Amino acid sequence: MAPDPSFTPTQLSARAAYLLRGNDLGTMTTAAPLLYPHMWSWDAAFVAVGLAPLSVERAVVELDTLLSAQWTNGMIPHIVFANGVDGYFPGPARWACSALAATAPRNRHTSGITQPPVHAIAVQRILDHARRRGRSTRAVAEAFLDRRWDDLVRWHRWLAEQRDQGSRGRITLYHGWESGMDNSPRWDAAYANVIPGAVPEYQREDNNIVTDASQRPSDNEYDRYLWLLEEMKAARYDDELLPKVMSFAVEDVFVSAIFSVACSVLAEIGEEHKRPLADVRELYGWADRFRAGVVETTDERTGAARDYDLRTERFVATETVAQFAPLLCGGLPHDKERALLRLMEGPRFSGHPDLKYSLIPSTSPVSRDFRPREYWRGPVWPVVTWLFSWCFARRGWAERSSMLRREGLRQASDGTFAEYYEPFTGEPLGSMQQSWTAAAVLDWLG
Ligand code: SER
Repeated sequence: MAPDPSFTPTQLSARAAYLLRGNDLGTMTTAAPLLYPHMWSWDAAFVAVGLAPLSVERAVVELDTLLSAQWTNGMIPHIVFANGVDGYFPGPARWACSALAATAPRNRHTSGITQPPVHAIAVQRILDHARRRGRSTRAVAEAFLDRRWDDLVRWHRWLAEQRDQGSRGRITLYHGWESGMDNSPRWDAAYANVIPGAVPEYQREDNNIVTDASQRPSDNEYDRYLWLLEEMKAARYDDELLPKVMSFAVEDVFVSAIFSVACSVLAEIGEEHKRPLADVRELYGWADRFRAGVVETTDERTGAARDYDLRTERFVATETVAQFAPLLCGGLPHDKERALLRLMEGPRFSGHPDLKYSLIPSTSPVSRDFRPREYWRGPVWPVVTWLFSWCFARRGWAERSSMLRREGLRQASDGTFAEYYEPFTGEPLGSMQQSWTAAAVLDWLG
């Protein structure tokens, strides 16, 4: 058998940089060249993390482009469409945001939903890199913070106020796409209660690009994704109406943990850069509220976190990566945290004996929901590995963090920069040349 192709770290980072250059449209980097030919919100943040070691200036442009499409209510939309580029469904015409939503931007086409709030992490990485550069680069990063601080706080305030209207410390999603983990088993029960009405005719584009259907969500799932769009459009994307009319409404424990971390990170940046004390206090307050909200969902014995379905008023426990949300933001009592770490590193997750690399699969290989090739139902996602590795370093778990980095780099050394990987064979799946996979590699090797 021929050995797997494997690139050295120097070759790999050169290829990653080349990839980001290739996906660069000028002021935005496409999430992937064919499957995702526009800017996605959390992809853009990770892309900025990868650009920062190459060029702080270019990383700032990426976030500026994203923030220039922020809605007036504060929401950062999950897609900012590239001008004049087709090839993705649902495109701007299907979302119809500028026609329907009072708060959507008039000069840019965007989608009408949001995505996980990882952006403060990107801002911090930009500032970290700027600190090591000359005065003019530092000035670019400082000017960015001056220009965008209020927008970043408005973004966090929108999440804290509009997406947690009951102040429960958990972010409510009205579409599974808002989690970034579109077809995770986490959403199966909620989608079972979404009964699609008359969905206007549509043609998927994704399966023209990833032609192996076993790697993408099913048509059945797409019908529900598209039906939720119709429900939102009927409500004109109105923050006050969505809680009343949407047939999908779930508190996402993973997004809530990310939000808690992001609030702490932004508060720390604010303190260091002398932003208004009232903002800093508010951010720390949200960080605490959402940390408590995450901990409240956890299983007494294992510490595993659960989502909460607002429609059925039930916790939803699934054997997915979201169980480990409290490890990102902290807050568990010591013994529960140890138990959760054991679960993560044990045979149900990254310690499963048949895994090619010791990484956390999106769904546990022993779960009956596990499908090794199907998007968020099993594969390992490098960007998730990066997020855990970064959060663990922040929590002072240096050994765990570098273990994930090491294994993540071994997986990525095939040089495909795949969107996700088959956990047992290491086969690259989904889109190749995915920008955020290259970004993770660049940060690890930077
Ligand atoms: N991830 C979704 C897609 O596959 C949209 O955000 O198209």
